[in-house]
Amino acid sequence: MKVSDSRVLLTGANGGIGQAVATALAGAGASVMLAGRSPARLSALARTLQQRHPDSPVDWREVELDQAASIAALANHAAAWNCNVIVHCAGVAEFGHFEATGVDRISQVLHTNLLAPMVLTQSLLPHLRTLPRAQVICVGSVLGAIGLPGFSVYCASKFGLRGFAQALRRELSSTPVRVQYLGPRSTRTAFNSAAVNHYNQATGTAMDPPEQVATALLDMLESGAAERFLGFPEKFAARLNGTVPTWLDGAFDKHRASLPTRPDQPDPSTPSTIQEIPHAH
Ligand SMILES: NC(=O)c1ccc[n+]([C@@H]2O[C@H](COP(=O)([O-])OP(=O)(O)OC[C@H]3O[C@@H](n4cnc5c(N)ncnc54)[C@H](OP(=O)(O)O)[C@@H]3O)[C@@H](O)[C@H]2O)c1
Repeated sequence: MKVSDSRVLLTGANGGIGQAVATALAGAGASVMLAGRSPARLSALARTLQQRHPDSPVDWREVELDQAASIAALANHAAAWNCNVIVHCAGVAEFGHFEATGVDRISQVLHTNLLAPMVLTQSLLPHLRTLPRAQVICVGSVLGAIGLPGFSVYCASKFGLRGFAQALRRELSSTPVRVQYLGPRSTRTAFNSAAVNHYNQATGTAMDPPEQVATALLDMLESGAAERFLGFPEKFAARLNGTVPTWLDGAFDKHRASLPTRPDQPDPSTPSTIQEIPHAH
């Protein structure tokens, strides 16, 4: 679809990638409905974009994706606004040892990154099906195609999102609705904690600016491409991992060694209690 013909419901609009996508969409003439949790930040972003691009209508709507009623209200509002594209960009990060991740946190990550985009898509499908053309773009991650040590919960959510996008694309292939999956690699936003930035540095993982992800997303909107990953080594690793995953099993020693210290293990950088006890003579 031409970007200028698109009426995009964008979740996670206040986030680093979300803001870059909103800016690129408005700059290219799309109509945009910014969805997020902070009305103050949403309205400020909408105002700025509207001033810069008066020909691109920008509206906003508050949503809490952890609440079914809030998702339903957003879907109703977006259908009445005649949305023809959903960009699922909201997401939460999770990094660290799996054993140290509580069940509540696992549930929250799966809910926000996987269940919420599924439910929002389902709620809007009756409307999208009535249009001549509609698109659903899931912002996943390259970690939806490669399992990395320290990211088991996050990978589960993004592998799930990618499976959802692939299956639904095939299920809807005879309808006007096209389902797509974009897999950015690590991106410079507040999403990544200091521990993740340290892990990226230690493992030589490249990071892209959010504007690069936005450019790729607009390309996907125009081209209708089914799936796209960002970054050369990541693209190749995603393909290889999809074909012969066990070949890569031995390639992550550096990643494992760069994980934060497990809470049940002593930090090697601090002296142990035994060393601190002075010798008694
Ligand atoms: N940054 C990366 O390295 C990277 C790499 C690959 C893929 N991604 C994916 O790209 C997407 C955007 O990431 P980002 O870097 O822009 O992260 P970000 O700056 O942390 O933004 C995430 C956005 O999601 C929103 N959100 C989280 N939970 C929500 C909930 N329950 N209800 C409503 N909104 C919620 C946040 O809202 P608030 O502003 O209210 O907190 C925030 O605006 C995510 O899906 C992420 O998984 C990121």
